[in-house]
Amino acid sequence: MMLSDRVQSVSASATIAITTRAKQLQAEGVDVVSFAAGEPDFDTPECIKAAAKAALDAGDTKYNPRTSRALLDAIAAKLAAENGLSVGADQIVVTFGGKHALYDAFQATINPGDKVLIPSPYWVSYPEMVKLAGGEPVFLPASAEAGFKITPEQVLSAASGAKVLLLNSPSNPTGVTYTRQELWAIAQAVLKTELMVFSDEIYEKLTYGDAVATCFASLDPAVAERTLTINGLAKTFSMTGWRLGWAAGPKDVIAAMRKVMSHETTNPVSFAQAGALAAYTDPRATEAAVAMRAEFEKRGLHMVDRLDAIDGVTCVKPTGAFYCFPDVSSHYGRSIGGAEVTDSLSFAAAALDQANVALVPGVAFGEDKCVRLTFATSMAQIDKGIDRIEKLLK
Ligand SMILES: Cc1ncc(COP(=O)(O)O)c(C=O)c1O
Repeated sequence: MMLSDRVQSVSASATIAITTRAKQLQAEGVDVVSFAAGEPDFDTPECIKAAAKAALDAGDTKYNPRTSRALLDAIAAKLAAENGLSVGADQIVVTFGGKHALYDAFQATINPGDKVLIPSPYWVSYPEMVKLAGGEPVFLPASAEAGFKITPEQVLSAASGAKVLLLNSPSNPTGVTYTRQELWAIAQAVLKTELMVFSDEIYEKLTYGDAVATCFASLDPAVAERTLTINGLAKTFSMTGWRLGWAAGPKDVIAAMRKVMSHETTNPVSFAQAGALAAYTDPRATEAAVAMRAEFEKRGLHMVDRLDAIDGVTCVKPTGAFYCFPDVSSHYGRSIGGAEVTDSLSFAAAALDQANVALVPGVAFGEDKCVRLTFATSMAQIDKGIDRIEKLLK
């Protein structure tokens, strides 16, 4: 069959590929420690599951208008109370996950050849989504020395002819959270340009130490006018399989995204919306989310300490999300257990083949010196996996 040029220009998700391989090995009985999937290991809080079950039992199983009004209102109330952002129901679209919200946002705004500025390292799907919309990803490099953060100057020098700036704080894969002042400075740069901003805030509830996630659109009304906020329930409420996310922002962009969705998926899953409503309104869901965050913080601190103690491994301390992104490049050029390790791909292959530890090679995120490990797994698994890596590298 002849495939489209468009689809041939993109790569499949490396994180999904590695997670699938790790799960396959586990199914074959291999004791693999997986640091690959960006997924909380907790179950969805009971009150959320109960709300979805009740919706099913009540026959909420049909096509419905794209989103329940109660859910749109709950998201608007969350944005007002937690993010200081005032939006109407016509400024929100509920989607099949944050990934879908981003995908449709690009479909709704990008013309062939439009440039999208993406800070690098970046989440694997961003450039591929841009390409699937016919756009051109332009990377703004942010090295470990720069704390994996871009500067306003970088935005200004790349802005000419670009349409969108993508921001992701807290960030996947680096675990870095921009301060309010840093985002304010970027916002001032954006206001000197024609750029729109897509601010992916899916990890907003997962910050550690003194770090606080800032809603970019809340910085200034002029910033809100050109910012699309992307968020979702997967990471905060451990609802990855539910596929529920949303975008909030300018009415015309939201209406365009709804139009795309009307031909693509129609409404999000009816009874999952009932679960989402409980997530945003039931205090027990908030309590569960707070407890999960506290557990991630302990695990993250432990993982970064253990990684830093390994010879030739250095790691920027994560202040958000649930990832460590250590630089392991001082081991490149070595033979590890008989395998030549020359880059992040061969490093991750050696870890999986020889130590039964699944990591994601940094090249998938635009930084070949690093590998990504998630700490959304138990302390026991963290210790077991890092013991194995330590032994392998010795
Ligand atoms: C940075 C970032 N944005 C968006 C998403 C999408 O999340 P979901 O589609 O599960 O809501 C993810 C998931 O890994 C992510 O890491």
